[in-house]
Amino acid sequence: MKIYNFDEIVNRRGTYCVKHDMLNEVFGTEDLLPMWVADMDFKTPDFIVDAVRERCNHAVFGYTFAPEGYKMAVLNWLQTHYHIETKWKNMHFIPGIVQGIAFVLQAFTQPGDKVLVTTPVYPPFLNVPHRSGRIFVSSSLKTVNGRFVIDYADLEEKARGCKVMILANPHNPGGTVWTKEELATIADICQRQHVLVIADEIHADLTLPGYEHTSFSTVSDTALHNSITFIAPSKTFNMAGLASSVCYVPDPDIKKWFFGFLDANELSLGSLFAYIAAEAAFAYGEEWRLQLLAYLQGNIDITEQYLQEHLPMIKMMRPEASFLLWLDFRELGLPHNKLVDLLIHKAKVGLNSGLDYGTDGEGFMRMNIGTPRANILEALERIRQAIKTL
Ligand SMILES: Cc1ncc(COP(=O)(O)O)c(C=O)c1O
Repeated sequence: MKIYNFDEIVNRRGTYCVKHDMLNEVFGTEDLLPMWVADMDFKTPDFIVDAVRERCNHAVFGYTFAPEGYKMAVLNWLQTHYHIETKWKNMHFIPGIVQGIAFVLQAFTQPGDKVLVTTPVYPPFLNVPHRSGRIFVSSSLKTVNGRFVIDYADLEEKARGCKVMILANPHNPGGTVWTKEELATIADICQRQHVLVIADEIHADLTLPGYEHTSFSTVSDTALHNSITFIAPSKTFNMAGLASSVCYVPDPDIKKWFFGFLDANELSLGSLFAYIAAEAAFAYGEEWRLQLLAYLQGNIDITEQYLQEHLPMIKMMRPEASFLLWLDFRELGLPHNKLVDLLIHKAKVGLNSGLDYGTDGEGFMRMNIGTPRANILEALERIRQAIKTL
């Protein structure tokens, strides 16, 4: 068995990668350790790179439709990991999930319509509706025993009059792996209120040891017939730049309307290297995924331990999935802009500002630990030294 080395430091500067090459634009300085955008600093695994390289040897990159091997690899992955038994006719290539969400809003809502989210949440869930003239309505998550939970009474109240709910399953930024019961309750509420559910399951494959991801559509017939699910290999195999996602729409009526919309907008073909890379990821990626999860778990452990020992005033929500940590800095007693300033200019660490995740994110920051352990220890040490100056 091949052992992968996640400790290797790869210099990503100069590759036009958002995380390292847009620091100046986003934070106003280059001199930062980037722990923000949700991609990882690990090399995309060799079996994916090899598949892309091999296809390059052919050297004609014309219009390409979904290869059979790709379809099989996706279907097989969904069946073995999430008990989704389906045919390709219920699936559709989508370049990116945020684009997919935008397409759903275009296809199923009108400007002025209301879109339901739970906050804090991944910023495009707020920005995409807003920028397309829809209105997001937010139900605030509660924290119980260090984990996000949904206030169902509030969710139902807020769902009234909404057309679509955008659900991150698992959740970003909390890393919450929603249980079957939680998802079934959301499905019931949305059905009662005639709200179509977008289940964004991009982080599903990164569910950490000890937790089990439940795919939204599998929890009940209600969920199956009222949902559009998005999945992607992009987070798991660190290939977001290849823009390869898939949507799964089991209900015939929703599918007819949505796939009709995609076809009408010339979104049916897909992209050559996205197919090649996704096929390799889903066909050969399980061993790499398991080793990655073990490494990420180690990163979470050392961060938690460091915070407990050296920075006990920073509270970490321990994620049940993925490589994003939701950190509560409120005990420092700083106004949010001062907190952001401290982290950028004193600590010189680039974290995501909690306020981008909705007003519930005030006093919070999101830290990406999908990076070699040495970077995490360096970031934590910088934060510690910066806090000492207060
Ligand atoms: C919940 C969630 N959805 C979607 C995305 C981005 O998906 P894509 O790059 O396919 O648009 C992210 C990236 O961080 C995410 O966390």
